[in-house]
Amino acid sequence: MRGTLVGLAALVIVGCEAGPPAEEAEEFGGLRLTPAVLAVFEPIPNDPPALADNPITPAKVELGKMLYLDPRLSQSWLISCNTCHNLGLGGVDLLETSVGHGWQRGPRNAPTVLNAVFNLAQFWDGRAADLHEQAMGPVQAAVEMNNTPERVEQTLRSIPEYVERFTAAFPDDLEPVSFNNMALAIEAFEATLITPGSRFDDYLRGDEDALTVGEKEGLALFVQKGCAGCHGGVNMGGAGYYPFGVVERPDAAILPPGDKGRLAVTRSASDEYVFKAPSLRNIGLTPPYFHSGGVWDLGGAVAVMGTAQLGTALSQEEQATVVAFLQALTGRQPRIEYPTLPPHTVATPLPDVGLRSETILH
Ligand code: HEC
Ligand code: HEC
Repeated sequence: MRGTLVGLAALVIVGCEAGPPAEEAEEFGGLRLTPAVLAVFEPIPNDPPALADNPITPAKVELGKMLYLDPRLSQSWLISCNTCHNLGLGGVDLLETSVGHGWQRGPRNAPTVLNAVFNLAQFWDGRAADLHEQAMGPVQAAVEMNNTPERVEQTLRSIPEYVERFTAAFPDDLEPVSFNNMALAIEAFEATLITPGSRFDDYLRGDEDALTVGEKEGLALFVQKGCAGCHGGVNMGGAGYYPFGVVERPDAAILPPGDKGRLAVTRSASDEYVFKAPSLRNIGLTPPYFHSGGVWDLGGAVAVMGTAQLGTALSQEEQATVVAFLQALTGRQPRIEYPTLPPHTVATPLPDVGLRSETILH
């Protein structure tokens, strides 16, 4: 049985140029980093994955990029997807919880869009099955872009270059300019927002020197303490739902009692305070942490995980060692050439910034 398991792991790892053989693998804190141990992780592929029912074409990706960056999808013309998922900032807004239409503060921290295509579902509670379904949410959410599908379609149809680009991206559609196709184009663009080439990926692909000794110690601790059980796979997370507070519930600043997580999606009592284990890819770039954004410091977040999820108090030194490893998960950030967005016309619905009293300060 044991032989079979190791054999299987070896098979899995072959695809990515196996690391050292088990007997030669280096040992850290009593753990040998063998291919079998490392098989719980997977490097990020160099190319975007295929999407179900949404072929990725250059025309669609370019259109999706424009829509992602175009604030005119919002009622105010101030807020684009990039406002809260800034592609120059690791795909986040660096706020505890996001601020949207009319300066309203939303209830949750913005997760990164980078590598989101690898998650089993979208949002902290997994309420959208995929990026296509997800993209329709924020455009309509009152605290985010506060728009309607009809007004978005009216806006896009009023801009000739968008009509041309939708027609080229969706050549088989009778009505190419639609809210649904907007979401499909954004999904295709988001699928390209992957970050291969982190030093950890190089290590997984067999470059033993890609990680320093300290980082390998952090990796060994990450596995030994049990972090990898929920943060494994290609995204180091994003593959399952768990209670936040398996062993001990964090305090209200980190786990606000009013947000019951996946309970609102499944209505099942066992899903109270259950959240998607987020991806730890590029985690060094995306503070503050947790769905509440309640922790700014990565070492602090690791400590919370130790006590809340594993019932282990990690020492300061252990926290720092794990953090050193987590910093090696930063991959190549997508290079975005900023598009010139097509001008609006007299037929375009004008912006409403949604502020009740307008103060002019300058
Ligand atoms: C006002 C800020 C804001 C804007 C604008 C916004 N988002 Fe988000 N986004 C968030 C927040 C907050 C969440 C988490 C909400 C939750 O889980 O309930 C989120 C979640 C997501 C996720 C899920 C990621 C994951 O790992 O679960 C994706 C993908 C995403 N947004 C893409 C987009 C796209 C595409 C747009 C534009 C159409 C957009 N967002 C506009 C704040 C924003
Ligand atoms: C039982 C599953 C489980 C285990 C074990 C676990 N985590 Fe988590 N992790 C989660 C969940 C679920 C969240 C999301 C919590 C929330 O904000 O709702 C999370 C969030 C995090 C975050 C914050 C990510 C972000 O984007 O905000 C970090 C960092 C993290 N975990 C690291 C670790 C480390 C390091 C360990 C080991 C010491 C660990 N986790 C063990 C499930 C787990």
